[in-house]
Amino acid sequence: MADLHQPVLLEEVVSGLQPLVPGLLVDVTIGLGGHALALLTAYPDCSLLGLDRDPQALDHAGKRLDCFAGRTTLVCSPFARMPEVLAATDSPSPVAVLADLGCSSLQLDSPDRGFSFSADGPLDMRMGASGPSAADLVNTAEPEVLMRILWDYGEERRARAIVRALVRQREAGLIETTGELSRLVQGVLGRRPGSKIHPATRTFQALRIAVNDELGQLEAFLEPAVRALAPEGKIGVISFHSLEDRIVKHTLRRLAGKAPTPPGPPIPDQAPPALIRILTRRPIRPSDQEVENNPRARSARLRIAQRLGDSG
Ligand SMILES: C[S@@+](CC[C@H](N)C(=O)[O-])C[C@H]1O[C@@H](n2cnc3c(N)ncnc32)[C@H](O)[C@@H]1O
Repeated sequence: MADLHQPVLLEEVVSGLQPLVPGLLVDVTIGLGGHALALLTAYPDCSLLGLDRDPQALDHAGKRLDCFAGRTTLVCSPFARMPEVLAATDSPSPVAVLADLGCSSLQLDSPDRGFSFSADGPLDMRMGASGPSAADLVNTAEPEVLMRILWDYGEERRARAIVRALVRQREAGLIETTGELSRLVQGVLGRRPGSKIHPATRTFQALRIAVNDELGQLEAFLEPAVRALAPEGKIGVISFHSLEDRIVKHTLRRLAGKAPTPPGPPIPDQAPPALIRILTRRPIRPSDQEVENNPRARSARLRIAQRLGDSG
């Protein structure tokens, strides 16, 4: 099971995050430990702090990284709380931080986790062990809230029709399984002949983002993570859809002192000082070969930035 998740852009992550001095590497989405294993192997003088909000993932990562136990600390936490975890573990400023966003194959492929429209299971979708599930959301949220979720996070143009069908259905009885939801969406949208994309893809993506507050987590994580870096330390973020990548791109640009300036004469002492330089002018994309071997890598984009040294 632990080998099922193929880490994306592995070589690019390992070379792009190469630390200038030995120190602490932080993998805030340790998942099944694929990137962490490669980083620990490549940088034998570094130690690693691994976070994940999913206790099952930490369990797998712990087993996989057993031979590095002396250099590895694992903590169950959402990554927005990275600064608190660094403080609680008495950690030094990291020389590199990696976030590989989204779900692992362990989550996507386990029907009982409720992420998949292709295998029937409870409509859950929680990466962590707490909080409302996707079933709670579809059965209790106001129609306007559901519409916004499908529209904003799934870019689902037929959001209104889907929500109308959801509301009709939940008046008749709760929607409790992934199968029930995917059949309902397919009933509304139909299935384009020959299309490989399931009609419920966007609805499932939207609900998953909402259930796990994925964009809120990312927004809360990025700037404090940059500020936590050691001088010359690097941060790498792999995103899988445009909503995430937009947040990463704009936040890094702002922290690099490239925020769009308001119209009018420049106000020098209000310009935010640059904290980082961006090392990837364009995001790094997987090669055709990688996508062929691992179709889940196809939408991955890696952006890397480096904290400026003490002298700026
Ligand atoms: C794509 S997988 C990471 C795979 C990992 N890089 C590997 O090589 O095995 C993403 C992981 O991040 C975790 N995750 C997603 N959002 C999180 C968050 N806000 N806080 C902590 N962990 C999160 C998920 O639970 C999942 O295990």
